[in-house]
Amino acid sequence: MTAIGAVHGTESEPVVQNRDRKAVPNPIMRLQNKVAIVTGAATGIGQAIASRFAQEGARVVIDYVGNSTSAGATERAIAANGGKCVAIGADVSKPDEVAALVAGAVKAFGRLDIVVNNAGVEKKVPFVDYPYAELQKILAINLVGPFLVAQAAARQMISQGQGGRVINISSVHEDLPMPTNAAYCASKGGLRMLMRTIAVELAKANITVNNIGPGAVFTPIDADVEAKPEMEKALMGEIPLGRWGKPEEIAGLAVFLASDEAAYVTGSTYFIDGGMLQQAGSY
Ligand code: BGC
Repeated sequence: MTAIGAVHGTESEPVVQNRDRKAVPNPIMRLQNKVAIVTGAATGIGQAIASRFAQEGARVVIDYVGNSTSAGATERAIAANGGKCVAIGADVSKPDEVAALVAGAVKAFGRLDIVVNNAGVEKKVPFVDYPYAELQKILAINLVGPFLVAQAAARQMISQGQGGRVINISSVHEDLPMPTNAAYCASKGGLRMLMRTIAVELAKANITVNNIGPGAVFTPIDADVEAKPEMEKALMGEIPLGRWGKPEEIAGLAVFLASDEAAYVTGSTYFIDGGMLQQAGSY
């Protein structure tokens, strides 16, 4: 079921800088007049990107799944800073819901310039025991979802004739093997080739396509590690900078890739991992 929430913020409301988030430099309205969809924006990296995009002047569509209240925290964070957003419930793995998501964005804000494929899940199980249902679910959300969302978004951007931006939140694991995480690694490896292929196809429409490859970022996806000090210590030992990444740090890179400054960047993965990939050996 696709549900569209109320639009928050008005043209007359000023966009106020959020001075509390130390990792966020002063916004300079790099995304003014842009409309962005961020999938999986109810929590974690998606929430940080949606909030940051709004601070930079974008009108933001918060995609979420499940309960209509789940996007509330992101809506409130954006509205508190005078930003503009609307929450739309859509499962990215379902073509009809993705079509409704893009149509809903255009209905709310008149156009679409940027799409961030952030929604993602993982489940760690040894390969020989990996449940088929989990494999299907992970590939559907992490790989089929970005395909469908990018396709629907590209159709809209092409019809507008002014180019656009597709940004996929991938992972260091689009390159780096991670034992017990085969479905996730396969989905992110696939996302790497999806990005590179459609970057070439969409270049003639001036739509850029890039991946962001985070390492270990402190979000709910790593709740299992965050809850176990010995696991957390082992993970931090694999990261030259010796700490978790912050969702806001990923959001900063997303702003750059979405902005006019990145107009000549396409077909690339930007890793943001505290050096993790240079010290491979994930457990
Ligand atoms: C995964 C995490 C993992 C991190 C670094 C992320 O893509 O979602 O589970 O800790 O990569 O290995």
